[in-house]
This record gives sequence, C-alpha cells and structure tokens, in this order.
Amino acid sequence: MQIPVLSDAARGFRPLTMAARTGRREATMPALGRAPRVHLWHIGCQMNDADRERLAEELADIGFVPEVALEDADLAVLITCTVRANAEQKVYGKFRELIPWKRERPGRAVAVTGCMAVEHGEALLQRLPELDYVFDVREPDGFLAKLQALHAADIDAPVTLPASDRLSAYVPVMGGCNEMCTYCIVPFVRGREASRSVAEIVDHVGRLVDRGVREVTLLGQNVNSYRDPDSSCGLPELMQAVDQVSGLWRLRFLTSHPRNAVPELFTAMAELSTACEQLHLPVQAGSDTLLRRMRRMYSVAEYREKIAQARAAVSPRLSLSTDIIVGFCGETEQEFLGTEELMRELRFDTVHLAAYSVRPGTAAARRPDDVPQVEKKRRLNHLLALQREIAAEVNHEYIDGEVEVLVEGVADDGRVYGRTRENKVTWLAAGSATTGSLVRARVTGASAWQLHAEALDPAA
Ligand code: SAH
Ligand code: SF4
Ligand code: F3S
Repeated sequence: MQIPVLSDAARGFRPLTMAARTGRREATMPALGRAPRVHLWHIGCQMNDADRERLAEELADIGFVPEVALEDADLAVLITCTVRANAEQKVYGKFRELIPWKRERPGRAVAVTGCMAVEHGEALLQRLPELDYVFDVREPDGFLAKLQALHAADIDAPVTLPASDRLSAYVPVMGGCNEMCTYCIVPFVRGREASRSVAEIVDHVGRLVDRGVREVTLLGQNVNSYRDPDSSCGLPELMQAVDQVSGLWRLRFLTSHPRNAVPELFTAMAELSTACEQLHLPVQAGSDTLLRRMRRMYSVAEYREKIAQARAAVSPRLSLSTDIIVGFCGETEQEFLGTEELMRELRFDTVHLAAYSVRPGTAAARRPDDVPQVEKKRRLNHLLALQREIAAEVNHEYIDGEVEVLVEGVADDGRVYGRTRENKVTWLAAGSATTGSLVRARVTGASAWQLHAEALDPAA
C-alpha cells in the first residue's frame, strides 16, 4: 500500500529545526534505511491519552513505527499538560532526560506537543536548544508532512499496528471548553467547544467493539455540554445511541460540569443498560463565596441538590468522584472548612485534590495568590487524610454485597483483577476468572482504594 502524501498546505509547517531557525542550511536526516521509530510519552488528562492514540495511528499511516521504547527510537514526542505548574515541571524533567539520549546518536529528534505546545509555542524552541519540533496535536498535518519529507528515503508503506487486546477505550466526543473558570488554563489551550457528530462517534465505538473493546468512556472537557452538530441533541441522546452498539458492555463519560448535569442525564444513566453507576462531577470548593470567585456558576446548595437527584435516579450506590482545589486566592479558613464539611456530607468515593497553581493569562492570575505554600500543603494533606477515611468507609459498605467485575488481567502472583461498574479496582482469587470476562462476585474485603471479592458465576 502507498503512503498518502499530505497536502502542500501541510508542508508549510514552521518552525522546523534548530538549523532552520538559526538561518543555517536546514539539517537533512541521515538515511536510516528502515522505517523511523517513535517513542511517545504523555502526562495530563484522559484527553491526552486519546490524543496519544490518535497520533500513533497517524504516524503509522505515514510509515513510522510508533510506541517503541526510548532506546530504540529515532524521534521522541512529548504530549504535555499545563494545568498546574507541577505538570510543566514534570515535562521539563522528562525533557532533560532526553538530552543525553539525543546526543547518543546523530539524527535523533525531540518534538513537544499537547497543551504546553499551544501555551508556549515557539518560545519553547528558544528556551530548549535541544528541542526540534513544536506542533499542535489538534492539527498535526504540517508536522507529519515534514517528517514524511525528511524521511522520504526510509518510508514506503503504512505500518500496521499490532492488534490491541485492551477492553477499555477513551472516545473523545468533543474538544474545548466554553466555561471560564477563573483559575483554569484549559479553555486557552483547548479552544472553544466543538463536538463530533453522533454518527461519527457511534461508528468509532463500533470499530473499537469489533477490535474487542467492551467499555468506552466518552470524553470531553465539559462533556455534558455535548451538542451534535447535525441534530443538536445532547449527551443523553448520544448515550442512547452508543448504548445500542451491540457488543458494548459498559459506558462511562468524563468530565461533567455541574451546571449542565440535568435530570435527563441521570435518567439516561438509570435506563441504559450499559451506563455505569459512576459520575465524576467536579465541585472545586464547598463555599459559595469561593465558587463565585472561581466563576463556577452554581452554589453549594445547587450542587448538593444535583447529587441528591443523581443518587435518587441512578442508584443509592452511585459512585461519585470530584475535583477540589485548595488554597485558591483569598481562601479563608472558614471557606476551607466549608469544603471539608461538604466532603463529610456527600462522602465521595474518590476526590482528586490539588493545590491552587497560578496560570498566567487566567482571570485569577490578576489576583494575589495569597495562601502561603505551607498552608496550601496543610489544607491539602488534611483533606487527603479525610478522604482516605471516607473512601475506606464507603468501600467497607460493599462488604457482603455483590458486584459485577470486568476482568482486566492477571497479576504476577496469579490473582485476577478488574473493575466494577462503579469503577472500583477489585481482586479475585487466582484462577477464578479469565481476562475479558464479566463475572458476578461477592465482596469479602475492602480498603480505601480497592475491593477483594470471590467470583460467584460468569455474568456474560
Ligand atoms: N473540565 C474539567 C477538568 C479540567 S482540569 C472540569 O471542569 O472539572 C482538571 C482539574 O484540574 C480541575 O477540575 C481542577 O480541579 C484542576 N485545576 C484546574 N486548574 C487548576 C489550577 N490553576 N490550579 C490547581 N488545580 C487546577
Ligand atoms: Fe477548566 Fe472550568 Fe472548563 Fe473545567 S469547566 S476545563 S475547570 S474552565
Ligand atoms: Fe492538562 Fe491539557 Fe488536559 S492542560 S489537564 S492535558 S486539557
């Protein structure tokens, strides 16, 4: 099969290499005499997982071998995150590791994409002399065309990716975010909301199921504001359509904004057999004044009401997760205690806690970041310890009850593991179930992070 040649427009990709930028003749790649190999690395949210997978497919289409170990690679691509300063620090740390790797052999190159590439653009090339390419992962054609041109002698046909045996997959249904939470950089790096059509998504899920996937998670930064560009139907209707894909066992979605968590969504979760009893609904803070400063557009009482509606409609055992930021600008002890109280009251299964990190260009960056670092740390640790206790108690309530486990694999010691519909990691005795099966099991033990259970019988 012939490799499709990307358009001339795509070939206009800039910036290219250090040599090009310093005005010297552009470096030509030494011929490899084989298909170039690419090491991919990513950090950040599930959107980056999905972008990594798509990029791997696009690289394979132009004749490159993606997903090889670093020591075997000719090109390393970092798919980055900029949501907090520490995410960026990890990327710079990874980049430093690549410098000796790159020097080991002439012709090796490093590319940066993902959210830091949008945020910093070409400034990254100035800051990091060893960096060769920066590109926007949402528009990779120019970068891919450049690779094609440089390696014209080494590539001859699309590469076939090895069949994947995974059971779970992420399916992006929309990109971008139209909210303007004052602390958040995501709308700046991911742009305005844009949804894929129901037909395209159903088709995508169908292809995944044909390859053995049994569980999909529909992804969007603000997934419950999904709108089909053709019919303008929303997430509940999309879920209905995806539920119909035969061979699909489980359906999840991430991340919802409380403002758009409408009763129809909870009804769809209750009625569709694939829809799992799991809801991720970031609250961010448990104080109205704090929520207003964050521009979250709901009150604590409204959030509480949504949770009550969801639990009533879906299941009292609905598994609930959230995101919380501590130490936001001007957060008083009183406001912080409001967050603590809300956690005690709603008893989330999982809480993703983060200390506030100023993001340049956001509305909150104009306010003083006045909670001292040590105090942020104290508040963070306090809530982490509280959540560990709550999660242990919540999971303890599963003991003697039944769960459905999608078996994902076998550990080195022979024990079998998988996840329940509530997304809880569950361990079963060695030999009691096979990978890829759905089993009913009785819970015999629980900790804050996982369940232990004994298989009863195969459920499907
Ligand atoms: N769209 C999702 C997720 C966005 S980013 C949502 O609306 O929740 C994931 C999480 O990172 C956010 O929920 C928030 O808790 C956290 N976050 C975003 N910006 C942050 C910042 N500047 N400092 C600390 N945490 C932040
Ligand atoms: Fe960021 Fe708010 Fe959009 Fe989530 S909803 S991505 S926190 S701006
Ligand atoms: Fe990070 Fe970008 Fe996701 S900033 S959290 S990788 S959308």
